[in-house]
Amino acid sequence: MCGIVGILGKGPVAEDLIRSLKRLEYRGYDSAGVATVDGGRLDRRRAQGKLGILEERVAAAPISGNSGIGHTRWATHGAPTEQNAHPHMSGSVTVVHNGIIENFRELRQELEADGAVFETETDTEVIVHLIEREYQGEASPQDAVAATLKRLEGAFALAILFAGEDDLMIGARRGSPLAVGHGDGENYLGSDALALAPFTDRVAYLDDGDIAVLTRSSVRIFDESGAEVPRAIKISQASALLADKGKYRHFMLKEIHEQPDVISHTLGQYVSFVEESVVLPRLDIDFKKLSRLTISACGTAFFAGHVAKYWFERYARLPVEIDIASEFRYREAPLPENGLSVFISQSGETADTLAGLRYCKENGQTVLSIVNVQESTIARESHAILPTLAGPEIGVASTKGFSSQLTVLAVLAIAIGRARGVLTSVQENELVRSLIGLPRLMTTVLRHENQIDRLAHSLSKARDVLYLGRGIFYPLALEGALKLKEISYIHAEGYAAGELKHGPIALIDENMPVIVLAPHDRLYEKTISNMQEVAARGGRIILITSENAGDPGTELASEIRVPNAHDFVAPILYALPAQLLAYYTAVHLGTDVDQPRNLAKSVTVE
Ligand code: G6P
Repeated sequence: MCGIVGILGKGPVAEDLIRSLKRLEYRGYDSAGVATVDGGRLDRRRAQGKLGILEERVAAAPISGNSGIGHTRWATHGAPTEQNAHPHMSGSVTVVHNGIIENFRELRQELEADGAVFETETDTEVIVHLIEREYQGEASPQDAVAATLKRLEGAFALAILFAGEDDLMIGARRGSPLAVGHGDGENYLGSDALALAPFTDRVAYLDDGDIAVLTRSSVRIFDESGAEVPRAIKISQASALLADKGKYRHFMLKEIHEQPDVISHTLGQYVSFVEESVVLPRLDIDFKKLSRLTISACGTAFFAGHVAKYWFERYARLPVEIDIASEFRYREAPLPENGLSVFISQSGETADTLAGLRYCKENGQTVLSIVNVQESTIARESHAILPTLAGPEIGVASTKGFSSQLTVLAVLAIAIGRARGVLTSVQENELVRSLIGLPRLMTTVLRHENQIDRLAHSLSKARDVLYLGRGIFYPLALEGALKLKEISYIHAEGYAAGELKHGPIALIDENMPVIVLAPHDRLYEKTISNMQEVAARGGRIILITSENAGDPGTELASEIRVPNAHDFVAPILYALPAQLLAYYTAVHLGTDVDQPRNLAKSVTVE
């Protein structure tokens, strides 16, 4: 998703802008650009493709100036060409934008009728022309921006520079995130604290509707009504966590390998290793009174919620409704008295998830969010949060984000089960023990890497792949298929094993690999029967099962044996071979694993 940076610096900013944009690369983008004001004059460089190309452009034709804005664009309106890349400019105004202006067609018609000449197909360009029109009409820069914002419908985070104003940068947000970095004689804007980390750790987050007016020596923030407001400066942890691949070829592989440590760290926050019990922070939610859980999220976070539905129902006997956020937000779902809404989001900025959260709040639900980025909008708008503590996740395809979400959800299920009197303390001890043992089992799974790499080599030749799972392994099959398709571009589908005969069985032939996720649990035999249906039709079965599972009695193309694990934690463990399989398949195909085409890490538009 688009990334924004803005710098009012003491020296030339071009290099720093690009340095900061590199830290936003993880969000996904397909073009980039920078603009500066120098001696009152605006200038810009833009490029289609990766930041390296922009860097070459800037090296070939340097851009000077101590004030600048930069942007990585994830195309929505208009192809990812240089022409459509930000910053956009008209007359004395230049703008970078993250979000979508929904009423841009009407605005464009109005501006064109008024004589404006548009250079791009983007929705953003209307913002530049609107500000320019106000500014030429003698409004001050701040008033020109404020008047423009009133005309915009949709979501935006903006950074704006004006010709002739070397010591002024204006930021604004509604819907999309924007942070202000407080420096020493320098000030900054950025999409997140990671972008600002090379310059400052003193960060303030804008609220929806805010306008920030920055000079080198001052930051003034105004809310939607125009009143000046304080926005607390927080010390961001992002600087310590510099994005670095270490010894790994890709961030995704690094993040897969981090999982044993991440899960230990997350558990350290939520369980007592001595008492083998759950210790949640104070949430001010009475679990005993809960009538229902409503879970909503997008992508991988949604599948984490889907797994957790089985836990909440089985271990806490609490009814659960779950839906993807883009559907949930418009369903007008009736919500119960004493309902708890749980939102799951790695970034904490996903637009659909945030909209679902606001709907639940308006409808009287208590909102608990499971987020990785604790300063994010979703975190700030929730009644309570349970952070996943996974550290920054850079690979677009979520891995440690997923397993840490599952871990927090598992702990929450135990806590609710205990509060509702469903679980005894002895059962709690047993479940917590299984969680404590999980990082060790994960390390063992990671040792299967070479075998999975070889297996991925043959998988990389497939055109379509089917993933099957039953019970709590059904959402795991969905997540396995998602991982494969997002980074290898091989078409993959996840299916409930029992549903196979109602459709997908028609697809099975000797060219169709079928990956079956089936530990030796109470549903194993059922899944094996489904596997036999595949085998009978010549399908190539890859079975991921546990060491203690007997011979399935079917011809297998391959088999991955995972250490025996308690039923409760098995789904978290099985995420790892699925991630590695997707990763190595993508590596064999030579795709851009960390930034797959068309995908964004944090989706701040609908
Ligand atoms: C995007 C990412 C996915 C992620 C989803 C939800 O699609 O590419 O990896 O699962 O958004 O993101 P969130 O930050 O809300 O967990």
